Amino acid sequence: MRMYDLIEKKRDGKALTDEEIRQLVNGYVREEVPDYQMAAFLMAVYFRGMTDRETAVMTDCVAHSGEIADLSEIPGIKVDKHSTGGVGDKTTLIVVPMVAACGGIVAKMSGRGLGHTGGTIDKLESIPGYRTQLSRKEFFSVVRRVGASVIGQSGNLAPADKKLYALRDVTATVDSIPLIAVSIMGKKLAGGSDRILLDVKMGSGAFMKTADEAVKLARKMVAIGEHAGRRTAALITDMDVPLGNFIGNALEVREAVHTLQNRGAGDLTKVCIALAAEMLFLSEKGSRKECRALAERSITDGSALQCLKEMVHAQGGRAEALEDPDGLPNCRLRIEVKAERDGYISHMDAQGIGASSMILGAGREKKEDSIDYGAGIELRKKTGDRVCAGDVLAVLYTSEERRFADAKVRFLEAVRISEEKPAAKPLILARVDSKGVKWYQ
Ligand code: URA
Repeated sequence: MRMYDLIEKKRDGKALTDEEIRQLVNGYVREEVPDYQMAAFLMAVYFRGMTDRETAVMTDCVAHSGEIADLSEIPGIKVDKHSTGGVGDKTTLIVVPMVAACGGIVAKMSGRGLGHTGGTIDKLESIPGYRTQLSRKEFFSVVRRVGASVIGQSGNLAPADKKLYALRDVTATVDSIPLIAVSIMGKKLAGGSDRILLDVKMGSGAFMKTADEAVKLARKMVAIGEHAGRRTAALITDMDVPLGNFIGNALEVREAVHTLQNRGAGDLTKVCIALAAEMLFLSEKGSRKECRALAERSITDGSALQCLKEMVHAQGGRAEALEDPDGLPNCRLRIEVKAERDGYISHMDAQGIGASSMILGAGREKKEDSIDYGAGIELRKKTGDRVCAGDVLAVLYTSEERRFADAKVRFLEAVRISEEKPAAKPLILARVDSKGVKWYQ
């Protein structure tokens, strides 16, 4: 079929055959399908959606567009985790060593920041010496010795996703449930792990703004994973407020270390324990209750922190830097942002706060921009807190004075102060697996 006919078929709400999907994705990767036709197709998907079958076939094409990691040389069940992206989401830095400390095996490839959301690889690269590019032999050797390794995605991991994501990013087609499912699961299937835990974020800082949308996305991704023979589960977690109290690369690494020292923020610690317990359950380390107890103990007995230090050391990083206040990049300049009136913080737009952190230099506007690793935001108040005019809401850090003004405006626009105390919201909303959805509210 001609590309024109495939676009027309999707535009009219019809399902494409397996062969048509393959022709489309493979043709795009081979540069036989031009960007303008793929963009039209993606927009048609945005409005018309895709069937489960179309989504599964497209995911398979994306996964097989490059090399599929073969982790079979590493003995045991390999478990992966993926977050759909959030602000202040440093859970990988905490959860991966927790799981490894309890005997789980994590051979993980992570990405860089996307838009207002941070990326694990950027955070890890703020640790002096930490190498995110390892040869396959080195990667396997770190996983065997430590139980965990986190590296950057190789250039040949799901290259179709790189091309498609770049096009979606500039054609307003990122926040489509089937396209997100294809993008994430294409990379996860290529990553080679046996079990997959998805952290599907929902709220103002996430692609999915409501719990229903998040569950829909989770169900699609779980179905794709199970169909490909990988046991997959998802937790739906809140991203209406940034997670924890710090946003920015080195700031988040420090907060991850604090959490592993058992003095982290309550919301972050709670989400990390839930994620680690699910990963251990998927790794068959015991009942759900036992896995939760294991996860908790890895923090209180210090074994997870020890595991993080071993992973950092094994990948060339200065493990001593993690607990040294001057060991990680710090910014020279700081300003306090103060409340302009009395009341309760009734809403924090996590996306706006992520954007403010980007303005400070913690993220990239364009792919080629460099990152200011010490830049970011320390939140002193969060949703539900009572404030008086003049109280410090947050501290902004950057290396360039000129960035403060815009970042402060963006931050204040993102924070709403009202008379009424807002109702507390659950942090973990639901769990999705092949058996269905379990709501926790
Ligand atoms: N994260 C991804 O990797 N892909 C998407 O499409 C959205 C979030």
